[in-house]
Amino acid sequence: MVNENNNNAAAKDDSQMSFEPERPDVYGQAQPKELLRLIPEDHDVLKSLANKHIISARQFDKETMLQLFRLAAKYESNPDRFSESNPLQGKILISAFYEPSTRTRLSFESAWHRLGGDIMSITDRASTGIAKGESLEDIGEMFNNYGDCVVLRDIGESSVFDMMHSLCIPIINAGNGTDEHPTQALADIYTILKWRPEIMSGTGTPIKIGLIGVPSRMRALRSLLILLTEYSESIDEVIIIHDGKSEKIFSEDQQEQLEQGGLKLRVVTDLNKEIPSLDIVYINSIAWVKDSFEVMGQDMKLTADSPLKPNSIILHPLARGDELSPALDNTNHNWYFSQARGAVFIRMALLTCMTQRTGRVVDIL
Ligand code: CP
Repeated sequence: MVNENNNNAAAKDDSQMSFEPERPDVYGQAQPKELLRLIPEDHDVLKSLANKHIISARQFDKETMLQLFRLAAKYESNPDRFSESNPLQGKILISAFYEPSTRTRLSFESAWHRLGGDIMSITDRASTGIAKGESLEDIGEMFNNYGDCVVLRDIGESSVFDMMHSLCIPIINAGNGTDEHPTQALADIYTILKWRPEIMSGTGTPIKIGLIGVPSRMRALRSLLILLTEYSESIDEVIIIHDGKSEKIFSEDQQEQLEQGGLKLRVVTDLNKEIPSLDIVYINSIAWVKDSFEVMGQDMKLTADSPLKPNSIILHPLARGDELSPALDNTNHNWYFSQARGAVFIRMALLTCMTQRTGRVVDIL
């Protein structure tokens, strides 16, 4: 009753109903224009993504990423220009999210809408033939007739592979169990390069990155680590920070492959001891387990009292829980909102390539 009264009073108070259309510039504002200036456009690299499924971060080399980041920066710098030219007009996206999502589904759908395409959206396995035992291969066969691109999230690691085999339209892995989340990792690197463009060329002071979580169990971390190997010359050290409760920090061969890729890895359990030396603190806590999830690292928390280096940034794939205090939102360490925002533009860039519509957006500034 008290809350209802408070809400009624707030609704009558016009000052409480007003909002600022622009956010105050107190947290990290990732600027895309420097990337646009530094990366020369190469249309052939973008065209090489046509007729490809996107399943793993392993598919992206540095050159392909740079061209995607350039196109994303172009969209982010001038969003109205491209929504008016409707480069995806006449194309249909099948957005199939069989596991909950806020950011990935809505940012993919926002990306597609902003480019002028149409969408069919599935948000529940039970509303499809899967509930009657239909196979993902057969559903993929049907999708061929209905759309031009599929974005799939599923708790099963193999689902995206099962569907891929019958598809002759491209599919994007939007998170498959604990395996990978490649477009999240692209959004992460896009944010990091907007923060420090010199990382692209390996010319700045090498940075220290702390990843709070368990790479064997967290798909966002798994994909991010793969992409970080492309920038190993700009990274002094990647420190994996966990709570000591997980048996396996890395899955089989994961650590060896990352080290062969040039990353210097160190595994620790004392968060506050490492924080003062970190340039990037990447925090995550959710790991998927069958049809549910586990919140890991309950003792690993970032708060306004954490001893953060003055110019360091915090990244988080979100959704957040108790591990990331909202008290950090209005600080310049908060680059996680910028990271989530930038994901729309990187997905716009990827979707344009996969639908072979880059010819409508290159050489337009
Ligand atoms: N980052 C991310 O994958 O968030 P959602 O689960 O909300 O899609």
